[in-house]
Amino acid sequence: MGVAPRHIAIDGPVASGKSTVARLLAARLHCLFLDTGALYRAVAYIALARGVSPDDPAAVALLVDSLDLRIQPDIRSALGYQLLADGAPLDVELFSTQVSRAVSPIAAMPYVRERLIGVQREFARGEDVVMAGRDIGTVVLPDARFKFYLTASLDARVDRRLAELRAGGSSMSREALRAEIERRDLRDSSRAASPLAKARDAVEFDTSGIPVEEVVARLEHAVTSVR
Ligand code: DC
Repeated sequence: MGVAPRHIAIDGPVASGKSTVARLLAARLHCLFLDTGALYRAVAYIALARGVSPDDPAAVALLVDSLDLRIQPDIRSALGYQLLADGAPLDVELFSTQVSRAVSPIAAMPYVRERLIGVQREFARGEDVVMAGRDIGTVVLPDARFKFYLTASLDARVDRRLAELRAGGSSMSREALRAEIERRDLRDSSRAASPLAKARDAVEFDTSGIPVEEVVARLEHAVTSVR
């Protein structure tokens, strides 16, 4: 019998640091990495590009059914993997303000979730992987060997996302960003289809004020100290 693959689930709210931490942890552990939010963002981006309303579940379902979404591991690329939608590579465009606005209603659609959860499980099948998202420990990989739930205060999360936005040249105000993050938190945790939630067996970690390298080191220690 082969050894079960090492699946590591990292969930948490907007800007809790989960994607950065997951990516660095995957590099340290020589595992695959996937930020599952990018898949929901890819559907939102394609919907906007093709004039499909992000509030129309039937139209978005048709779009998802016709879309060929592929993930190719590539730790040197901008995302840490290559995401291809109908053969076209997507990366920084997924993180625009328009896509961030359109993605919440799309991520709440049960049919979209069902399809994208299938893509995520297929990616993880038989592989050692660190996966970041909202429902990895609860729904996507409920048998994951390690589950972490990262949190941070709202202020810390606003600070982090603001620094990222400023680095990208955005002039969005702190107040507008704070309101946006609160709105997305509420939407992600109150939706009916696999809402943001801490798995019962997940280890919770408040990352407020802790440098990212230290968070990664602690998670790496937690993973490597268990045989
Ligand atoms: O992590 P993010 O901000 O890139 O996620 C984009 C959106 O997708 C956000 O509204 C939450 C949603 N999402 C989700 O519902 N389930 C996941 N596993 C990952 C993201």
